[in-house]
Amino acid sequence: MNSARHQGSTEITNLILEAAARARAEIGDIDHKPAAARSAKWPIDCKIGPGLEGAIACESKVGYVNGTAGLLSYRGYDVFELCAYSTYEEVSYLLLHGHLPNPAQLVEYEKKLARYRHMNKTLRLLMSFPVEHMNAMAALRMGTIFMRQEFTYVDQEAAKPDLSDAISADEDSIGMETKPSGDKKAIYEFRKKKKKPRKVDSQLGDASGLEACYHLIAGVPTLTAAIARIRQGLMPYEPLNDLSHAGNLFYMMNGRRPTPIEERVLDVALILHADHGMNASTFASMVVASTLSDIYFSVGSGIAALNGPLHGGANERVLHTLREIGGPKQVRKWVKKALAEKLKIPGFGHRVYKTYDPRARVLGPLAQYHCLGCRAEIQNLINTAEVLEREVVSSLATEKQIFPNVDFYSGVVYTRLGIDPAMFTPLFAVSRVAGWTARVLEYMRNNRIFRPRALYTGKFDQEYKPLDER
Ligand code: ACO
Repeated sequence: MNSARHQGSTEITNLILEAAARARAEIGDIDHKPAAARSAKWPIDCKIGPGLEGAIACESKVGYVNGTAGLLSYRGYDVFELCAYSTYEEVSYLLLHGHLPNPAQLVEYEKKLARYRHMNKTLRLLMSFPVEHMNAMAALRMGTIFMRQEFTYVDQEAAKPDLSDAISADEDSIGMETKPSGDKKAIYEFRKKKKKPRKVDSQLGDASGLEACYHLIAGVPTLTAAIARIRQGLMPYEPLNDLSHAGNLFYMMNGRRPTPIEERVLDVALILHADHGMNASTFASMVVASTLSDIYFSVGSGIAALNGPLHGGANERVLHTLREIGGPKQVRKWVKKALAEKLKIPGFGHRVYKTYDPRARVLGPLAQYHCLGCRAEIQNLINTAEVLEREVVSSLATEKQIFPNVDFYSGVVYTRLGIDPAMFTPLFAVSRVAGWTARVLEYMRNNRIFRPRALYTGKFDQEYKPLDER
């Protein structure tokens, strides 16, 4: 089943399949599909912890994560299979449309991506700002707003929200005065009547439609590569229409065509980061969309949320840690000290995964394979990472279920691809824009504005004193 596009990187397909086999052997034959993989009868009960932990905010068919078994699937397809046989183009189409494209659909989609990758007006606007002095994620967020301007031209009629969707814009289903009581605190009232699905297959210029999603999936890589170049004092490269999505990203960042291995490694990394449940940046995008703001503003919020070190920024920290450790021989002593100081070692642990993160299972062998025989500095990074993984897993896996997460090896993978650490988080956004847009589109088909409550623990009956008496 090896795709013609993967010829020249058969070893990579094999190592992904080996990682998948190892994962399956550890999981065993147990059926890990959720018992209720069907529509719920709203309102539903669920226990909610701080930070909405445990809260079910919506239904989704986009992706499934099982943190106990270490499973990740997009639209029902195992992420290992998608990495082994698919491409980012197919995967982003799958996430958006709910099915894999047939050959004609893929050609049509690739043509659109190729067209939207060219963003001369947006780049001209971007370059009129001091991007070289800006945080790369701030520049990327600004760039998505310029993309919106290019796409909608002006705030024309098509870009305006459909006000029939604006029902109950700012109401509380549960009054603020209602006290939470045990599990009951998690009961929400949801819209009972099924709304007519919103038309998403809209015209060019509709800033909340499918075409805008294509524009963002194609354009965020162009923006990211341009930001990387401008930060180095260089001019951005025009995309090449004969290169794939990953190939173009590599080319626009590095100024040369990738080898088949480099293209495939980047493609697999993009597939692995494309979607991951209701994580903070996805939720941020959905909250913004639910106000009937448009998909450019949504993606801008996703970028803002991803920027934080608790979310998208950990891979850069892994790289700094590996450099700080210095080499494989220093790992044991470093880990001992880190654990004694109760340090959170970057690239380990996960809120959802209590076993190996399936994405780390692929990225680890991918990094090892790609770093074979490369220059001493990178060789040292990967050797240090391998020993660090063994040490941390042997110290923390049994007691605390701490394993490597997606960020542990991605920094090494990107460094091997010649990418500057400051661009690691923007690269995450390049991939995740598929998940953000897919989930926003899905949610908008039956939109209801997000509106949780806060438990008021403040004072009452305060007496107002004039300014000069305070
Ligand atoms: N290194 C050492 N110990 C750890 C680590 C770690 N990386 N992560 C968790 N622990 C320990 C904690 O100290 C805690 O121990 P205790 O019970 O003795 O106090 C226990 O494991 C539980 O940790 P929490 O912080 O409560 O776990 P939580 O689920 O809240 O946090 C998180 C998950 C934020 C990812 C955490 O593991 C962490 O900070 N990891 C390092 C940063 C990182 O790699 N982030 C990327 C995550 S993947 C992503 O966002 C794409």
